[in-house]
Amino acid sequence: MSINRNRGFAMAVVAVVMSLVLAACGGGDEEAASGESSEAGASGGPASTEFEFFSWWTGEGDSEGKQALLDLFAEQHPDVEIVDAAVAGGAGTNAQAVLTSRLQANDPPDSYQRHVGAELQPDIEAGLVEDLTWLYDEEGWRDVIPQEMLDLITVDDKIYSVPVNIHRSNLLWYNPAVLEEAGIDGPPATWDEFLQQAQTLEQAGKVALTIGPLWTQKHLLENVLLGELGPEAYMGLWDGTTDWESPEVIAALDMFTEVLGHSNIDQAAADWQPAIDPIIEGDAAYNVMGDWANTYFETAQSLEFENEYNVTTSPGTDGIFNFLSDSFTLPTGAPHRDIAVEWLRLAGSQEGQDTFNPVKGSIPARTDAHESLYTGYLAMPFEDWNSEDTQLVGSLAHGVVAGGAFNTEIDSALGEFVASGDSAAFATAVKEAYEANQ
Ligand code: GAL
Repeated sequence: MSINRNRGFAMAVVAVVMSLVLAACGGGDEEAASGESSEAGASGGPASTEFEFFSWWTGEGDSEGKQALLDLFAEQHPDVEIVDAAVAGGAGTNAQAVLTSRLQANDPPDSYQRHVGAELQPDIEAGLVEDLTWLYDEEGWRDVIPQEMLDLITVDDKIYSVPVNIHRSNLLWYNPAVLEEAGIDGPPATWDEFLQQAQTLEQAGKVALTIGPLWTQKHLLENVLLGELGPEAYMGLWDGTTDWESPEVIAALDMFTEVLGHSNIDQAAADWQPAIDPIIEGDAAYNVMGDWANTYFETAQSLEFENEYNVTTSPGTDGIFNFLSDSFTLPTGAPHRDIAVEWLRLAGSQEGQDTFNPVKGSIPARTDAHESLYTGYLAMPFEDWNSEDTQLVGSLAHGVVAGGAFNTEIDSALGEFVASGDSAAFATAVKEAYEANQ
């Protein structure tokens, strides 16, 4: 199988946005990014006996895939002590704060997790990560990682991280029994339909939509904007071609407030897993979450896909794949650089990706994965990602389309917006933040 390289305008917009952002960044520290190969191997293997791996993958649903990959790594390097320096908190909100302090203190781990796209750019700009182009050449990865993905991690023809997966953001998870009990035929195709269903569900004593901390609200926001505006206008929000203050965007933001009004935000869950629990328990119908949720339902909670839980694209996003990708870096000054290089070799390999992704609830970033491993829920993203008809867009909450200061400013404006419901004020704040960060 192969990734189709010509799938509609939306992904092209991502590429254009990124090349503009990257051009503005101007590239990393040439000295730090040595461009040399690892030295590992010449003398029979890496000499370091410790490897510190930094991620936010803790807890059920997030840690199983990581563990599968770390186990394989441990098998290949039995003399290396693996230090799993994970910081709890979905979407990396806590981990990224800890990482920032460590990088500022010149205390990098040996490899750390970053989303591809805008989230990685400040690190490249500041020379915090090494140029990995030589590793791509050694491993032949340019032939198996799609160009759209490479564009998101390349500056001045240099490639700066190793993507291990592709996750999908625009998903509506639900409990079919709760719908049936309330006399609802199936999940809503539009947010208007969701609002109608929400009343029925509430009359039946159910929570229509569950929600967690701010990043899950941002995750919901991106998918309401996508469903209401469509892929082209959604991507235009991130390259200045869609006016945040336009009536269409204000109406989509008003819809977000209405949707949240049918959630349990008064008792927002502490993270994404407890936001899913009321659905499993039959107290709530829906949750908008990425496909790491499948691992929580299926592996951690042993539920049966389609019968005990089910999923569809979030309202208004049929035929659209809102994607994100976890990647790993080689930090400048990594204390155990030789073993970190071996880790990256595994993360980028076919064996590594086929070990990690079926457990993680994601599909490989490589085009040569073994399709037969991607069954159950995973058959759907595998097929959609590879379909010519699918339109790709990038996630906001998971670093593809906004990063750095712009992203931080969106977060603080969103906190105020969720409290006030003032769409116009939020639109103006984001527009100004976008302009200030150009
Ligand atoms: C995303 C990340 C996923 C998953 C999720 C929940 O940002 O890309 O791999 O970990 O957060 O923590």
